[in-house]
Amino acid sequence: MAQQSVFTDPDKPQEQFRNYEAEARESVREFYRLNHRYQTLDFVLAKKREYLPKTKRRMGIWEAMEFLNTLVDDSDPDTDLSQIEHLMQASEAIRKDGGPRWFILTGLLHDLGKVLCLYGEPQWAVVGDTFPVGCAYSGEIVFPEFFSANPDRKVPQFQTKYGVYEPNCGLDNVHLSFGHDEYIYQVTKRYLPEEALYMLRYHSFYPAHKHGAYRHLMNTHDEQMFEWVRKFNPYDLYSKGRERPNLPEILPFYEGLIAEYFPAQIDW
Ligand SMILES: [Fe+2]
Repeated sequence: MAQQSVFTDPDKPQEQFRNYEAEARESVREFYRLNHRYQTLDFVLAKKREYLPKTKRRMGIWEAMEFLNTLVDDSDPDTDLSQIEHLMQASEAIRKDGGPRWFILTGLLHDLGKVLCLYGEPQWAVVGDTFPVGCAYSGEIVFPEFFSANPDRKVPQFQTKYGVYEPNCGLDNVHLSFGHDEYIYQVTKRYLPEEALYMLRYHSFYPAHKHGAYRHLMNTHDEQMFEWVRKFNPYDLYSKGRERPNLPEILPFYEGLIAEYFPAQIDW
């Protein structure tokens, strides 16, 4: 795994972010080959049984951020920043735009679920774009050709438009590929407003929030809440080219913000 090295090119034009064709690093392709091969409905259900009870650890938000900081995201073509810098760039960009406090906090938290990697989960079970399992794969998912190696491809029931789901059943009833989005949603759901929870839970669900796929599984409430998911996305993406946050200077603000919404320790 690569160590964090050079700072992302600040002059990179925005249209080149997430440009998989131009700079599909071999590691990104390899990542999605594994992700699409192994994320089956059975796998997702097993991971939910393992993690949703939240019996792994008790730790504070800041403790989790420091815990996360050794990780490099193989699935992300845009950044060589550390995880903590990426989180603070996103939250600082929201703060500079005058976003509400819970929105700033959401920016800070959005990738904290990647601590899954530090429990020993492979990256293909933690990061990357997410997609529903147990129904047909949309052509809007990156590297769709890699699904040919997924065992669910051979289960006819999982390859119809609705698969195991009902029309417009709502995303809360749909199992997405397992990863850091679902995990941080489960960890924080007692503490944050619903708009924030949608942003956390679906920020990697690019086939839906960017390409409009899977609307046949969403209900009207999902559609409304996805406005917030889309509002958050530029801060996830384009904050990556900006300057490094000055940690000592902004730390007091974030300590106060975290304490406003969270107790000193929570269940993970
Ligand atoms: Fe993320």
